[in-house]
Amino acid sequence: MKTMVSRWNQYAKDDPLWIILTHPEKRGSWDQEEFFATGRKDVDLSIQQIKEAGVTELSGKAMDFGCGVGRLSQALAEYFDEVVGVDVSKEMIKQGEALVPEGMKLSFIINEAEDLSQIADDEFDFVYTLIVLQHIHPQISHGYLKEFARIVKPGGHVFFQLPAERLDRDAACKAEAPEAGKSLKSKLSTLKYSCISHMREFKARRKEKQLVDSGKMIVEMHGTGKDEVVQLMESAGLKLIDCYEDMGLADGWKSYRYLFTKPVA
Ligand SMILES: C[S@@+](CC[C@H](N)C(=O)[O-])C[C@H]1O[C@@H](n2cnc3c(N)ncnc32)[C@H](O)[C@@H]1O
Repeated sequence: MKTMVSRWNQYAKDDPLWIILTHPEKRGSWDQEEFFATGRKDVDLSIQQIKEAGVTELSGKAMDFGCGVGRLSQALAEYFDEVVGVDVSKEMIKQGEALVPEGMKLSFIINEAEDLSQIADDEFDFVYTLIVLQHIHPQISHGYLKEFARIVKPGGHVFFQLPAERLDRDAACKAEAPEAGKSLKSKLSTLKYSCISHMREFKARRKEKQLVDSGKMIVEMHGTGKDEVVQLMESAGLKLIDCYEDMGLADGWKSYRYLFTKPVA
């Protein structure tokens, strides 16, 4: 845990917006408004998915786990009466607090522990987290998932994203390649597409390696299979409402967003 805490504090001091959304061209240059607009887009999509799953009543107190500087927490405040952002990094939270618009019902909690014992049972109507659990070893992230089940109210909901497994790049490229067929033209088109994809990935990996080598960045990636996630949450007393294949949040991984509810006894 200590390494995790100091790593994220260092990243937050270095370039907080970029370490949250690591688009290569945005290094040191994220526009704040544009950055927070991405949070609104992510939250709007989640809320739309939740409503389409038949959950129309969303209100009360929401938690944004691994909130960073509040990119998603601020967007959640549009839908809930009160939002609490929880993060392992006091530096992230310091910066997040400075960015909260006047009058927004958003507060923050620093949590450097492997559990959420500073939060009471049944405290939240809604628990939310995107692009956080994937950076935490399953030995610890599974503990947090169980904690979500404890701190959500009966009748409340838990919505989270978690990768399941690494994608086979070759298979993915072929499947996505335009006009994958048997003619020479389509074979060349497939090959060209595959080469471009490999080149992009190679460049991204080289950049990441340079950062890691210079001690600037180590962002771990972890996944948990879908069946295991469902079993874990159900054994913690939650009921699966829906599971969505996720696009774009965990590059190179097959990832899911899960919606669970805590049944009213
Ligand atoms: C990639 S950022 C995502 C931030 C935010 N969820 C968003 O999408 O804008 C990951 C965040 O998770 C936080 N984090 C990492 N490990 C954590 C842990 N064990 N408990 C709480 N937060 C954690 C980091 O400090 C960082 O702010």
